[in-house]
Amino acid sequence: MSIAGKAQKITTNTLLSMKQAGEKITMLTAYDYSMAKIIDGAGIDVILVGDSASNVMAGNDTTVPITLEHMIYHAQCVVKGVNRALIVCDMPFGTYQGDSKQALSSAIRIMKESGAHAVKLEGGSEIVESIERILTAGIPVMGHLGLTPQSIYKFGTYSVRAREDEEAKKLIEDAKLLEKAGCFSIVLEKIPADLARRVTEAVNIPTIGIGAGADVDGQVLVIHDLLGITHEFNPRFLRRYLNLHDEITGAVDQYISDVRSEDFPNENERYS
Ligand code: KIV
Repeated sequence: MSIAGKAQKITTNTLLSMKQAGEKITMLTAYDYSMAKIIDGAGIDVILVGDSASNVMAGNDTTVPITLEHMIYHAQCVVKGVNRALIVCDMPFGTYQGDSKQALSSAIRIMKESGAHAVKLEGGSEIVESIERILTAGIPVMGHLGLTPQSIYKFGTYSVRAREDEEAKKLIEDAKLLEKAGCFSIVLEKIPADLARRVTEAVNIPTIGIGAGADVDGQVLVIHDLLGITHEFNPRFLRRYLNLHDEITGAVDQYISDVRSEDFPNENERYS
C-alpha cells in the first residue's frame, strides 16, 4: 500500500516520506466545513485554507484585503470538517512581513484559535527571519515562491515569474534558504516547468506546484477553479473537472421555473 494510503492522519513527516518514495502529494484549497468534509472524505492529502478566500469567497480582486480574523474564521470552519488531511492556513498580507514578533503572534493566533496544523507564508530571504521565529514555537511552516499574489502591486501582473536567469537563480537560492530555515514544504506558483524541476531536485523537502509543470512533488489547485465555479478564470495550467457554474445556473433556472409554474412543491413535498 502507498504511504498516503496507510496514513490515518497526514503529517508533515508523511509528506516528506512521500517525496522520498516518489509518491505524488495532492493538495486543494477549502474555506468552509461542507467542502472540507467532501474533499477530506475523497482522500486529499493536504487542505490549504488559502488567502484566495479573498477572491473566491469575499469577491475581492486581490488577496491583499483579507484579514487575520477572516483567515482564522475560514480555518475554524475547515478544521471541523476534516479527519485525515493536513490543514495548512495562509498567513494574510500584513501579518508577518515587517516584524518577526508580529509574525509569531499572528501564527500563534491561527494555531490556537483555528486548530490548523501549519501556516503558509509568501516569500524568500525577505521573510526568513519571520519563518525562523515562527518555527521556534514549534509551528510547521510551508513556504511559497514564484508568483506570490500578496505582492501583486509590486509585480503589477499575474504572469509567469522567474523566466529571467537572475530571478530564477534567486528562486533556487530562496528555496534552499527556506529548507535550511526548517520549512517542511514549498509551494511553487506559476514558474517555468524546467525551473520547478531544478528546485525540486535542489531541496529535500516536498515542492507543491500550481502552474509549475509535472516535475514537482505534488500539485495544488483552488477548489473553485477545479470545479468550474470560477468559469471566467482560464489560465493555461488549470484543468477543470466539472462545470459547476453552468450546472448551478441550470438548477436555479429550473427551480425558478418550477416555483413560478406551481410545479414545486408537489403532493409528496407537502405535510398533511
Ligand atoms: O491562496 C491560495 O489559494 C494559494 C494557492 C494558489 C497555492 O496560495
